[in-house]
Amino acid sequence: MAETPLLSIRGLTVRYGDVEAVRGIDLDVYPGEMVTLLGANGAGKSTTLKAVCRLLEPAGGDIRFEGASLLGRAPEELVGLGIALVPERRRVFPALTVTENLEMGAYGRPREWVRAAMDDMFALFPALARYARKMAAGLSGGEQQMLAIARALMSRPKLLLLDEPSLGLAPLLVDQLFEQLRQINAGGTTVLLVEQSAWLALSVSHRAYVMESGAIRTSGPSRALMQDDHVRAAYLGVTPEWLKTP
Ligand SMILES: Nc1ncnc2c1ncn2[C@@H]1O[C@H](COP(=O)(O)OP(=O)(O)OP(=O)(O)O)[C@@H](O)[C@H]1O
Ligand SMILES: [Mg+2]
Repeated sequence: MAETPLLSIRGLTVRYGDVEAVRGIDLDVYPGEMVTLLGANGAGKSTTLKAVCRLLEPAGGDIRFEGASLLGRAPEELVGLGIALVPERRRVFPALTVTENLEMGAYGRPREWVRAAMDDMFALFPALARYARKMAAGLSGGEQQMLAIARALMSRPKLLLLDEPSLGLAPLLVDQLFEQLRQINAGGTTVLLVEQSAWLALSVSHRAYVMESGAIRTSGPSRALMQDDHVRAAYLGVTPEWLKTP
């Protein structure tokens, strides 16, 4: 593992008025890793991602990217630094075509650069290539999620943050999405993933953090957390067949 984390969160506290949604958490993501942030509804996962992306101002602590603090940065600066967020509920521009949506993700980059990035996205998500000229509003939920992820990747981020990308997708599409996330990570993009599909998230990620009531309850290699009694009882439920066979 590399010495310096790509993302390093220390003592992060975020409040909504009197509600302390995140209570002094520490979290690291190293270059090349895929890290999962698990937690029940209201645990503080989205708040953590929003703080990283400068959409919420922390009440305390620090967030460092490649060793430099992000505090004081404007949200618009993050793409330039190499950070891209796929927010909760796939957000695409419904009245723009697939191609136009992708172009928005690489806004300001040279034309050849945009074309190369788009070719990469069409290779990774063949459905998007098929519907290149279609309005985003006409895509299925799964296709819109792929478009939202592809748009974030168009900036060729070093760190991709995803907030519950599988939410509302049919099981078959969820499997496909996780395979694509694995490929994106294998291609060199570091990933921090917030997910409710705990088995799948743990099966594709290297390490995971479990967040409860704004604090990190436990963390470790994803494989180890799959065997953790508390994690199993609280997040994993029934053991799937594929994990029983060694
Ligand atoms: N805009 C807001 N104003 C006030 N409280 C908020 C706001 N957004 C979130 N909260 C509260 O902060 C806490 C953490 O919320 P957050 O959205 O980060 O949780 P989460 O882990 O992402 O949950 P979920 O799995 O439901 O998405 C919750 O108690 C929530 O009610
Ligand atoms: Mg959330």
